Amino acid sequence: MTTAILSALPEEQGSLMHALHQPERIVHAGRSFWRGALYGQPVVLALSGIGKVAAATTATLLAERFGVARIVFTGVAGGLGEGVQVGDVVVARDFLQHDMDASPIFPRWELPGYGLACMPCDTVLTAALFEAASAYLATDEAGFEPKNAAITHRHAARAHQGLIVSGDRFVSTSAESGALRQALAAAGHQVLAVEMEGAAVAQVCHDYGLPFAAVRTISDRADDSAHVDFPHFVTHVASRYADGIVHGLLKKLSK
Ligand code: ADE
Repeated sequence: MTTAILSALPEEQGSLMHALHQPERIVHAGRSFWRGALYGQPVVLALSGIGKVAAATTATLLAERFGVARIVFTGVAGGLGEGVQVGDVVVARDFLQHDMDASPIFPRWELPGYGLACMPCDTVLTAALFEAASAYLATDEAGFEPKNAAITHRHAARAHQGLIVSGDRFVSTSAESGALRQALAAAGHQVLAVEMEGAAVAQVCHDYGLPFAAVRTISDRADDSAHVDFPHFVTHVASRYADGIVHGLLKKLSK
């Protein structure tokens, strides 16, 4: 039962690569896939690339060429939900493509051919990932020094579970994130976070019948300071969180 661990950026993958035993590099479609053992479990580590198409290609290769049993995504996201702050962790319950709009033929956000807008994640894998994320946040290793002068104190990081939306845009103004949150809320979707890949991987996993779960650490609030918070967080924090949470998850999966 090989678990694929997907990250969007090399910085997010860093410490996982470090911990990989007997790494073997396989190149397909311009991508490096690293097979090996992580905390006693067979894994393939890969970068999704940035954006939905790159992520879908990588996920398809993991299904077709590597025959993985499940895919777990670790990365960062912009916080959209009220109370979802930098340093918090969001585990996806489901994903929606916020830039999918085939209206008026189909309702806004609905995936044509699927009859739904929200693609659910695997409930069992997601529950294990949420437990692992919560346990990691309770350790001394979690936490970070914020760069944004507006954040004057370290808050106790929280784990959330709910809707994450994906689209081919880095959301970096308060106007855009506010409009997105409001439009989704008006349609009954309470969004927690925004990123650029998860919904595409969820769709590929749905097509292949592969269990999928995703965890995103909040690097910014998708607002006017997102471009400052994001690189700082990715460089200094994301990789540590990914390693801590994935370690906990793989321990659970081995039981
Ligand atoms: N990933 C991390 N922060 C993001 C943002 N603000 N928009 C899209 N993807 C992100």
